[in-house]
Amino acid sequence: MKNVKVAVVGAGVVGLSTAVCIAEVLPYCSVTIIADKFSPDTTSDGAAGILFASEFPDIPLERQQHWFKDTFDHLYTIAVSSQASEAGVLLSSGYQIFKEIPSDKTPFWSKYVLGFRPMTDREMKRFPDHKFGQAFTTIKCECSSYLPWLEKRLRKAGGQIIRETVKDFQQLGRSYDVIVNCSGLGSRSLVGDAEVYPVRGQVLKVHAPWLKNFIRDGDGKTYIYPGSSYVTAGGTRQADDWCLEVNKMDSEGILERCSRLEPSLHGGQILGEWVGLRPGRKNPRVEREWMQVKGRQVLLVHNYGHGGWGITLSWGTALDALGLVRQSLHERPPKARL
Ligand SMILES: Cc1cc2nc3c(=O)[nH]c(=O)nc-3n(C[C@H](O)[C@H](O)[C@H](O)COP(=O)(O)OP(=O)(O)OC[C@H]3O[C@@H](n4cnc5c(N)ncnc54)[C@H](O)[C@@H]3O)c2cc1C
Ligand SMILES: *[C@@H]1O[C@H](CO)[C@@H](O)[C@H](O)[C@H]1NC(C)=O
Repeated sequence: MKNVKVAVVGAGVVGLSTAVCIAEVLPYCSVTIIADKFSPDTTSDGAAGILFASEFPDIPLERQQHWFKDTFDHLYTIAVSSQASEAGVLLSSGYQIFKEIPSDKTPFWSKYVLGFRPMTDREMKRFPDHKFGQAFTTIKCECSSYLPWLEKRLRKAGGQIIRETVKDFQQLGRSYDVIVNCSGLGSRSLVGDAEVYPVRGQVLKVHAPWLKNFIRDGDGKTYIYPGSSYVTAGGTRQADDWCLEVNKMDSEGILERCSRLEPSLHGGQILGEWVGLRPGRKNPRVEREWMQVKGRQVLLVHNYGHGGWGITLSWGTALDALGLVRQSLHERPPKARL
């Protein structure tokens, strides 16, 4: 029956998605999530959760398209189902606007979102500092609801959850056949992948229920994302900044920039401020290797480093990680642990 023991390290959107994919598809695996933080305390929880991406330099575009499309299709099915409100997955329409005309006017994900088109001159009139814009409908995946929903789905598939800090993968390998590393930015004490670095993001949560459509500046620094219970106004992208404290200057800057795009925000009420550290990496790492643990081979699958697009790519990279686990176990079935 369940004779392959799988540990997934991390309970953010990437870890939970990966755990659910493995538990639901591979009946011979017993899946355990091990993490030191759970919803509502992960990076994923504070993210606006808009599906949207930029291109990673060294990953074949086709693979990135898959990641985006698989996630979009999975979440779209939820968004148009009776589960939408419990799972916190909704459709969201709006604009991305540019001060300079971008070299690529149709990003790789434009064919997967709905109704992607250039903005008309009449629409652009509202944004005198901007020269070009795109209108489309995408998905907003609110992790404060989506993560608990995934947790429930994992338990239903027989998965287990343990709260613990992982210090040593070798030691973990003594009790498991497969380890999936979805630790996001990881912890500084984990033997480091020097290529992972924090990209600090600060946002404001604003009560402004009249706002229905998102606006994002193409530079990625200013955005307004209306959600089910508040508007997320951002933001910052500060590379190599580990500070989790709210910075007042950042908040003022955010409010100033966002109100220039959406003056009615001045009438909103600020409910809170939040800081998160994106798991920055030149390219996300979704690959496998074999680890020697006391004469046994333990499979180590990596799924981390999604930067500012962890929610956007969550289901697609989880399916890739599942594929790596399935293929590897087929090639080298695990030997009994002593
Ligand atoms: C302000 C802001 C806005 C964002 N907006 C968006 C957006 O609109 N769309 C989008 O797609 N993305 C967005 N992101 C990016 C997104 O939040 C991340 O890419 C995503 O959350 C990464 O998910 P993760 O599961 O890899 O990491 P996390 O959510 O950080 O989860 C990591 C998990 O690993 C565990 N862990 C780490 N180390 C250990 C250890 N040693 N032992 C045990 N457990 C460990 C943690 O406890 C946690 O459970 C935003 C980020 C920020 C900061
Ligand atoms: C696990 O992932 C983290 C990044 O989240 C990385 O720093 C670490 O090196 C990885 N651990 C192993 C054993 O590969």
